[in-house]
Amino acid sequence: MFKIAKYPNPVLRKTAKLVGDFNDDLKKLADNMAKVMYEDDGIGLAAPQVSKSLRLIVVGLGYGEYKTYVNPDITFFSKEKTTTDEGCLSLPKIFANVIRPKKIHIKYYNLDGELQKEKLKGMDAVILQHEVDHLNGILFIDRAEKINQGQEILDSLKKQLDDKAK
Ligand code: CO
Repeated sequence: MFKIAKYPNPVLRKTAKLVGDFNDDLKKLADNMAKVMYEDDGIGLAAPQVSKSLRLIVVGLGYGEYKTYVNPDITFFSKEKTTTDEGCLSLPKIFANVIRPKKIHIKYYNLDGELQKEKLKGMDAVILQHEVDHLNGILFIDRAEKINQGQEILDSLKKQLDDKAK
């Protein structure tokens, strides 16, 4: 079983690589990611969060079911914004308000390598934006306009990172 990479693990800051092979290993990886996500009560998970620097996302659909987004590309962001109290399995016990576009269009591949297009809004649009950020080394705390919970935890994690850089 995978372990979730926690901030400030450097894998979370890498730009993930495009998936090239739509093979059984990819399906197995997605399936294992979904298991870890459900185990930790997450609603979405990006491959860098299990230390695999690949452009692969799973999103929970409930009851153990999940949807996979491979090499996702957000092609449209609405001007209209929405504010959500976001959290992340890589930053446990930290919650913050993030302002994001309310609607997006996304292109991606399914596990069979077929190109898909979707229009998303509301929570689905927020989750996908949060997960695509992970593929680009961006965390929700980078976009947070207000930390709602866990400021002290975040301060001590950031201090760990600063101490390491010294
Ligand atoms: Co996250």
